Amino acid sequence: MIIRPAQPEDVAAVAHIDNTCFHDGWSADYYRDELANPVARLIVAESAKEVGGFLLCWCLPPQAEILRMAVPMKRRRQGLAAHLLAEMLKMVQIEGVREVFLEVRRSNAAARQLYRKIGFFETGFRSEYYRNPGEDAVCMVWRQRR
Ligand SMILES: CC(C)(COP(=O)(O)OP(=O)(O)OC[C@H]1O[C@@H](n2cnc3c(N)ncnc32)[C@H](O)[C@@H]1OP(=O)(O)O)[C@@H](O)C(=O)NCCC(=O)NCCS
Repeated sequence: MIIRPAQPEDVAAVAHIDNTCFHDGWSADYYRDELANPVARLIVAESAKEVGGFLLCWCLPPQAEILRMAVPMKRRRQGLAAHLLAEMLKMVQIEGVREVFLEVRRSNAAARQLYRKIGFFETGFRSEYYRNPGEDAVCMVWRQRR
């Protein structure tokens, strides 16, 4: 398995994974625009020539924000998301990032556990941040060790 920057030809696979993992799926056009966005970093996990997961963040040193990450059901619990996160943290630190922020649904125990394992900690909640279905967000942050 390799982690690499997404290419235009990955966009369809990324949008497909997104739409199978989230109620409010984002389109291929959205991801195509993000590839052209100078602050966006879209990386994919590839194995057997197939995209097995992706992570999208915005890199605005000294801060970054994770917007989206997903691994399709059949590829879960194989360490792909942990690898994507570790690689993203390495990449953005080289660009001068010291803090990474994200929001996650309160009910998303898998993602909250994953982020804690990687070194994020929970800083608070945003009431009814999500729609469809409405739910609070948990705010999390990762900080570079000094
Ligand atoms: C959250 C998600 C990205 C995890 O992907 P993954 O590749 O299966 O995660 P990993 O295999 O790298 O798991 C790493 C660690 O995260 C935690 N974790 C992952 N899935 C978990 C689950 N279902 N329950 C509890 N802990 C879980 C565990 O600590 C795990 O380590 P372990 O397997 O040694 O116990 C995946 O479940 C997913 O795509 N969910 C839907 C979309 C989503 O919620 N995205 C995140 C919010 S933007």
